[in-house]
Amino acid sequence: MLSAPLLALLLLLRLQVRASGVAEPPLPSVVLAILARNAEHSLPHYLGALERLDYPRARLALWCATDHNIDNTTAMLREWLAAVGHHYAAVIWRPEGEPRSYPDEEGPKHWTKERHQFLMELKQEALTFARAWGADYILFADTDNILTNNQTLRFLTEQALPVVAPMLDSQTYYSNFWCGITPQGYYRRTTDYFPTKNRQRQGCFRVPMVHSTFLVSLRAEGADQLTFYPPHPNYTWPFDDIIVFAYACEAAGVSAYICNEHRFGYMNVAVGPREGLEEEKINFIHLILQALVDGPPMQVSAHVSCPPKRPSKMGFDEVFVISLARRPARRQRMLSSLWEMEISGRVVDAVDGWMLNSSVLRSLGVDLLPGYQDPYSGRTLTKGEVGCFLSHYSIWEEMAARGLAQVLVLEDDVRFERNFRGRLEQLMEEVATQKLQWDLIYLGRKQVSPEEEVAVEGLPGLVVAGYSYWTLAYTLSLAGARKLLASQPLRRMVPVDEFLPIMFDQHPNEQYKEHFWPRDLRAFSTRPLLASPTHYAGDTGWLSDTETSSPWDDDSGRLISWTGSQKTLRDPRLDLGSSGHGLHPHPRDEL
Ligand SMILES: *[C@@H]1O[C@H](CO)[C@@H](O)[C@H](O)[C@H]1NC(C)=O
Ligand SMILES: *[C@@H]1O[C@H](CO)[C@@H](O)[C@H](O)[C@H]1NC(C)=O
Ligand SMILES: *[C@@H]1O[C@H](CO)[C@@H](O)[C@H](O)[C@H]1NC(C)=O
Ligand SMILES: *[C@@H]1O[C@H](CO)[C@@H](O)[C@H](O)[C@H]1NC(C)=O
Repeated sequence: MLSAPLLALLLLLRLQVRASGVAEPPLPSVVLAILARNAEHSLPHYLGALERLDYPRARLALWCATDHNIDNTTAMLREWLAAVGHHYAAVIWRPEGEPRSYPDEEGPKHWTKERHQFLMELKQEALTFARAWGADYILFADTDNILTNNQTLRFLTEQALPVVAPMLDSQTYYSNFWCGITPQGYYRRTTDYFPTKNRQRQGCFRVPMVHSTFLVSLRAEGADQLTFYPPHPNYTWPFDDIIVFAYACEAAGVSAYICNEHRFGYMNVAVGPREGLEEEKINFIHLILQALVDGPPMQVSAHVSCPPKRPSKMGFDEVFVISLARRPARRQRMLSSLWEMEISGRVVDAVDGWMLNSSVLRSLGVDLLPGYQDPYSGRTLTKGEVGCFLSHYSIWEEMAARGLAQVLVLEDDVRFERNFRGRLEQLMEEVATQKLQWDLIYLGRKQVSPEEEVAVEGLPGLVVAGYSYWTLAYTLSLAGARKLLASQPLRRMVPVDEFLPIMFDQHPNEQYKEHFWPRDLRAFSTRPLLASPTHYAGDTGWLSDTETSSPWDDDSGRLISWTGSQKTLRDPRLDLGSSGHGLHPHPRDEL
């Protein structure tokens, strides 16, 4: 264990000794400055990413400070340094003894003047250490910035730029650079920002401000004049470490750059000053899930004890995840996502359309609804769609057999909205309080005419469901399962996402509806939706086991890719629907 007063005693200078005569120059030496405060939720991922940087540790020093914690940050850092510190050329450990908050602080994420000053002093200390140690560079990286790309540090040092930041992706429009700054030192909107952020232009670009994660060359011209604290004598801009540093760069004639030609990693969108660690953790979990879908995923350090997870079913009798055994990556992604949200799911092996042939279907009593055609392509049912129907059907049967009062059903390609778990729990609580009689609640679907849907009185997050596609995510009650089974849908099969609207009498096709009676399913939907598909038709990574499949009665074994996959096209209205995600811009954006 490393103890607090040791401070600089732990300067284990072990500069690289090269025994061999091979004349490959050593990589530049870099100090990694770690300043952690109340970072328990992101530290395992943050440290995991630092550990995995493809860079010789003998060329790296760790400068690590932590202060004013109300969570387990100090213990986690100690544990990590004790496990990995000896691999690095030097370790500086600067923990603050007593947990405390700043005077005037409104919450653990509120930036008071004292806090800004303290942070600037710490960064200055790190900088002073790096100079004294003779480092070529110092890397500042906030503890909720996860550098999933292990080439990041190599890439940045190879650029040989005075100040350079790897552009980081977040849950929103927010990133770690500004393209413009006002004469007073505030954020200025520019036309360059979005093309850069969205990688429509790629490369390394000179910008007036980088922050959160950036590499500073200590050898560049003017670098000796860079300071965080005290600010430059002529400084009149806002008292904030990132702006102080941007000013110092400008005053010293040192240029800053943002590089975006690779995906380097992620940054968490900060919470508002009055919000607590719980909200920040919710944002961070959303970011972890985003990384699982968009890749590369984050990985935790093996050298830190992560806060324990206690998965539950959130009051449901089961949380079913329908997943094809031959799509293990999707299955794993769903299980990992649920684990991060502490939801305990049960995998149901989906019925694989590939395994179905006419004789199997006959033995199951499956027959097609006369006259059924896909609304877009005009094709008949595919084997994939039959398999999908049978998978959902098996869950309804299990509910009836076991008398399960309410379940959550998820397919394996769900992208969860921010705070999915918290919002769903709250909704189900409100639904119970209002004694709403419900059979099915969609959490994710493609609405056909959302503007016509009626709100539910007393339940602001809910509407009466109109005609919609998809069976991505829904809750079902026992009464609902019984109604679906009683209509004997296998004998007149349509795709399951057409069947449900028939059963709540919202399907536009009267002929289909005639085959089912009574169509009294009480169906609702959350608004905004809590889940969307991970990919839409046409996206890279899109793959559909129902749309790439042969007709249900075709035993020739050939696969057909239906051009009629408009059902899974991105709906621009959906993007509007998810804009109420409750994410806050970085407090520094509000300056
Ligand atoms: C860096 O990451 C890539 C992709 O995840 C991986 O294949 C490679 O082995 C890693 N390299 C090192 C040195 O860890
Ligand atoms: C705090 O972290 C340490 C080291 O990572 C761990 O051993 C301990 O169990 C954690 N305590 C709590 C309350 O999470
Ligand atoms: C501060 O501003 C004054 C007046 O503009 C100028 O003369 C002086 O050189 C500046 N000081 C520094 C350190 O740049
Ligand atoms: C249909 O599939 C079943 C199970 O996979 C198989 O036993 C049977 O031989 C198949 N029948 C035909 C006609 O291909």
